[in-house]
Amino acid sequence: MKNSVPVITIDGPTASGKGTVAHRVAQTLGWGVLDSGALYRLTALSVLQKGIDPADPRAVAQVAESLDVAFHSTGVLLEGCEVSAFIRQEEVGNLASRLAPNPALRAALLERQRAFRQAPGLVADGRDMGTIVFQDANLKIFLVADVRARAQRRCKQLIDKGFSANLEDLLADMRERDARDIKRAVAPLLPAQDAHVVDSSTLTIEQTVQSILDLWSRV
Ligand code: DC
Repeated sequence: MKNSVPVITIDGPTASGKGTVAHRVAQTLGWGVLDSGALYRLTALSVLQKGIDPADPRAVAQVAESLDVAFHSTGVLLEGCEVSAFIRQEEVGNLASRLAPNPALRAALLERQRAFRQAPGLVADGRDMGTIVFQDANLKIFLVADVRARAQRRCKQLIDKGFSANLEDLLADMRERDARDIKRAVAPLLPAQDAHVVDSSTLTIEQTVQSILDLWSRV
């Protein structure tokens, strides 16, 4: 049976601004938000904390299955500890990207992601929201931005949060991560056939949000 709760999916590469844009769109519509990348990052953090072998797909999937997480308005708890800043670290993001091709891990996270679909609506951001998790979404966005613009944004974000950052290193990491996310066999980073591609390289966050709201008003 078709789920009547509306969903807008926003997929795209790392640092394309999809997280911020998803939150603003959700806030404007009064809807909930799913940051699916956070679930992959939380799994990666838990793998690191528990000393699990990242090359053991079954053990990694088990970590995802038993993940004890709670999202709240200002952050996220892993086993009761606030970890929002930790999961944003590049080391954790890179491990998340390396773990992500594991089909057992993706299957373990599937229902957890779908459970976020609750009235009055959901804005879901990630890589495969429109292609796999919410194939019947009411509006699908594929948010892209030039890799240098994305590396500059990430560099500024890290520095603003008090972490050290080097633009050239970030650029190299980002190219590597893009290639891995695009080339993987399972749920690769690709626009759904019915997705609208929005290029935010030269747009402000407000303009990007507005262009998505305009598309939503025409659905
Ligand atoms: O969006 P992000 O940078 O927080 O995501 C971190 C990694 O998690 C990303 O490199 C790939 C993986 N990921 C995924 O495979 N599928 C998703 N829906 C979201 C993230």
